[in-house]
Amino acid sequence: MTEPTGTTEPVTTGFAIGPDTAILGIETSCDETAASVVLGGHLVRSSVVSSQVDIHARFGGVVPEIASRAHVDLLTPVIAEALVEAGVDGADLQAVAATCGPGLVGSLLVGVSTAKALALVWGIPFIGVNHLEAHLYAALVEDPTLELPVVVLLVSGGHTMLIEMAGHGQYRLLGTTIDDAAGEAFDKVGRYLGLGYPGGPAIDRIAMEGDPHAIAFPRAMMADGLDFSFSGLKTSVVNHVRKHPEAQTADVAASFQEAVVDVLVTKARRAARQIGAKGLVLGGGVAANSLLRERFLSACVEDGIHGFLPSRAMCTDNAAMVAAAAWWRLGSDGPSPLDLGADPNLKLPLLAD
Ligand code: KG4
Ligand code: ZN
Repeated sequence: MTEPTGTTEPVTTGFAIGPDTAILGIETSCDETAASVVLGGHLVRSSVVSSQVDIHARFGGVVPEIASRAHVDLLTPVIAEALVEAGVDGADLQAVAATCGPGLVGSLLVGVSTAKALALVWGIPFIGVNHLEAHLYAALVEDPTLELPVVVLLVSGGHTMLIEMAGHGQYRLLGTTIDDAAGEAFDKVGRYLGLGYPGGPAIDRIAMEGDPHAIAFPRAMMADGLDFSFSGLKTSVVNHVRKHPEAQTADVAASFQEAVVDVLVTKARRAARQIGAKGLVLGGGVAANSLLRERFLSACVEDGIHGFLPSRAMCTDNAAMVAAAAWWRLGSDGPSPLDLGADPNLKLPLLAD
């Protein structure tokens, strides 16, 4: 088996982890119910994801109360499937991990309480995992040899962040959105254009038939720094469609997507140059976007930097990334206390400097 990443080994706290340490990961922070068994922080034995997207589609967005009830119904069968697929039971596992924040509090509580109950029954440690840290580990699941430091462009429905991953558990926030997240902008524009929910994949699809240069939408804050702003762009789309009702939806979608991707890629390259990163990594649901993937990779080739694109399944919410992040955290911090709660506003732990 490949040794987990050739970079920094976790600082041990006396809690022995190794390539055979099997962790059951649980993810319920938003509208995906997921469970996964991962060995040694990167060997994925099973990864089951049950999406609630169809349940929420008719409401045009995630309804928190419906999401937590759906997690209650779905989580036990999803965990059972993950264990069967991996060919393990409780006796073969060394820890149970669950996302404890950020996210929807009711949804998080379902995963956290279930993980604690299983940890108690099986007599093994429980680990609470930060959802943002889990997204950072998604790339390391698929490429455990990834050399640090890397810059991760994390773009999801709730976050747009440029993060320096200097070492394991060592993060610096280089830039973030000052208003809407990129995925939120995709979803709002998709809804406005009548493309349904979630807007991201729908815009991605329809944009393929449109002209990305049909409308010159603004690129906010392009010249300065590493922060982002997307709410003005969303307003520009609305204003343009009101003024030009004859505009083709495909052209509007393609021009909007072009503007978002242009800003994301420009700032990601700037961040990588600024810190002298060895690699640039994409993560989060928006990382499934076809244009973003293409532009991101060509930018990395142009800049002579290692570009890593996790698979679409690893970019969107899943539990393998939770189990991977938990493996490192178990090694560095040991198990979490059983009175750890769910924190909907949990922040990524950042380096002090
Ligand atoms: O990371 P994720 O699965 O959930 C969280 O927000 O944590 O991300 C979901 C977001 C949604 O806003 C969705 O519209 C966006 O990712 N998304 C996309 C694409 N697929 C999903 N955005 C643009 N293009 C896509 N192909
Ligand atoms: Zn996420």
